[in-house]
Amino acid sequence: MKLTLKIWRQKNANSKGDFETFQMDNVSPRMAFLEMLDALNKRLVEEDKDPVAFDHDCREGICGSCGMYINGHPHGPVPAITTCSLSMRYFNDGDTIWVEPWRAKPFPVIKDLIVDRRAFDKIQIAGGFISVNTGAAPEANSILVPKSKYDDAFDAAICIGCGACVAACKNASAMLFVSAKISQFALLPQGRIEARDRVRAMVEKMDELGFGNCSNTGACEAECPKEIKLANIARLNREFFKAF
Ligand code: SF4
Ligand code: FES
Repeated sequence: MKLTLKIWRQKNANSKGDFETFQMDNVSPRMAFLEMLDALNKRLVEEDKDPVAFDHDCREGICGSCGMYINGHPHGPVPAITTCSLSMRYFNDGDTIWVEPWRAKPFPVIKDLIVDRRAFDKIQIAGGFISVNTGAAPEANSILVPKSKYDDAFDAAICIGCGACVAACKNASAMLFVSAKISQFALLPQGRIEARDRVRAMVEKMDELGFGNCSNTGACEAECPKEIKLANIARLNREFFKAF
């Protein structure tokens, strides 16, 4: 395939970025999207030019680091996958592909497609943990958990902290992320002990870092690669009201 890439280039958070155009020939539909960017960067390095900076680690949809906007969608146009799981077979010969970083104030651009997502770490550090001495592994049936609650907690726990929900939201709201991190504990007996302090601390930190509020648009749920549900935001609100 022959493709035209329009990629956002930006030196740092303070510089003004712009799109740079690259022509790519011989792109195989069997390539992954990130492999296509690797091929571009190999060429740029051989030409003694600055390669495109983009974040990645696991390339298996686990770490959440590979987020970028592709043709107007966080993680690209295919639902429920991360950028690293996106294959070039979803594009056609002659396509123009627009690639941009997450655009949200709490995620400043570090370079090109890489943004600083430490704001999520700060929210997590504020309360997204259970501070008990776990000791040795307890007998599996010592604390019984209803299957439906266990399933909902597990569904929330698969949030990979990629930030697509924030990038997709017109308010740059982190509510879907925070609600997943709250839900994974709030639904389990082990997480109830610190539930009040946790929700207050995490919501306070989210507000302090400049994330916006949820206005029920649903873009976060539509673009989340792990299909985290809006029902978690409703649970977050209930937990927050109960905490006062
Ligand atoms: S809720 Fe979804 S989009 Fe948001 S950080 Fe978690 S996995 Fe990413
Ligand atoms: S590189 Fe880890 S989720 Fe994409």
